[in-house]
Amino acid sequence: MAGERLRVGVIGLGAMGTNHLRVLASIPDVQIAAVADAKGGLAAARQADYRIPESYADHRQLLDKAQLDAVIVAVPPELHRPVATDCFEHGVPVLLEKPIAHSLDDAAAIVAAAERTGAACLVGHIERFNPVVRKAREFIASGQVGTPYLCNTRRNGPFPSRLLHTHVGVLVDLAVHDVDIVQYLTGTTITEVQAMFIRTTHREIFGKVLFRGRADVAGSMEFSWISPQKIREIQLFGALGLIEGDYISQTLKFFENPDEQVILDPWASTHLSAGRIASGRIIEYPIWRQEPLRLELEHFIQVVRGAAQPEVTPRQAMQVLEVVLRIADKGLNSKTTITTRA
Ligand SMILES: NC(=O)c1ccc[n+]([C@@H]2O[C@H](COP(=O)([O-])OP(=O)(O)OC[C@H]3O[C@@H](n4cnc5c(N)ncnc54)[C@H](O)[C@@H]3O)[C@@H](O)[C@H]2O)c1
Repeated sequence: MAGERLRVGVIGLGAMGTNHLRVLASIPDVQIAAVADAKGGLAAARQADYRIPESYADHRQLLDKAQLDAVIVAVPPELHRPVATDCFEHGVPVLLEKPIAHSLDDAAAIVAAAERTGAACLVGHIERFNPVVRKAREFIASGQVGTPYLCNTRRNGPFPSRLLHTHVGVLVDLAVHDVDIVQYLTGTTITEVQAMFIRTTHREIFGKVLFRGRADVAGSMEFSWISPQKIREIQLFGALGLIEGDYISQTLKFFENPDEQVILDPWASTHLSAGRIASGRIIEYPIWRQEPLRLELEHFIQVVRGAAQPEVTPRQAMQVLEVVLRIADKGLNSKTTITTRA
């Protein structure tokens, strides 16, 4: 395998599976050797589009016949458990799309199967590979922001029509991204959550979350499917200032707090009321814009070649899902229900 092109298969060729094909096709290190989709004709259509040698309607046939070095699983999350388990049993390294699953039972079964078989598995928390997150992480690690104490995120946009005939809500679909990134950048584990949702009869379409984590970190997250404006942003406050990242434009700004030295306990009102957070310089950090999916796939190739450990393991993804499901539980008590097509 070393030096040779990796034979990669893709299972599930809907919106995300097709995205994987588009990016994989541009990576010289990879041959897309086979695809599978349960929907009649879809696998054959993608096979023709991308000149792929083999296509199947059943992922088990793909695993039995195609001699793959790696596989990408992009089927709906409620099918992650059986499909990923079949891949692990074949000893093939897996890139499993996010969220790891919709239930903790399924997530635990995936973790157990991956650990029992020893198959490498990267869970596709794609924002980990966004250059903004990478730069922010570097910046925080260098000590230039100071210890993080507050983090706010927003992930808004229109309702995705692909989910019209499901009951999937905005939280389960999107929150894994932000829960994961908040924990990753602040270095905390979220321990306490409060949430309020706006719901339709089928699902939550807006959620506002307050959280606290270990190490005195707190913050908020907003998720919305009722916004014509697509927003993906994060603010992280440390004693030395605020960093603000935009995942879409891939920009990162630092707002300096020139009075930083006295903020020892950010929650002590004496410090805040003494006016010791002030406005300082605003610095925009240069970022080399790159497609996160490409960076994720390049990392996965490194994992398959044994040159890197998965950035997000099934066990880490399960912990993130556990926080998301706790938020969902809190939000269930929200009574606001509105009528829309969603
Ligand atoms: N990383 C991201 O930002 C991102 C964005 C969108 C979706 N996703 C994830 O990607 C996955 C797929 O989402 P999507 O939006 O592409 O869904 P989709 O419904 O568009 O596509 C899923 C495809 O899987 C196929 N399928 C179902 N069961 C199968 C089986 N047993 N074998 C083979 N094919 C099967 C379906 O026929 C369908 O074509 C989900 O886990 C989703 O959460 C991730």
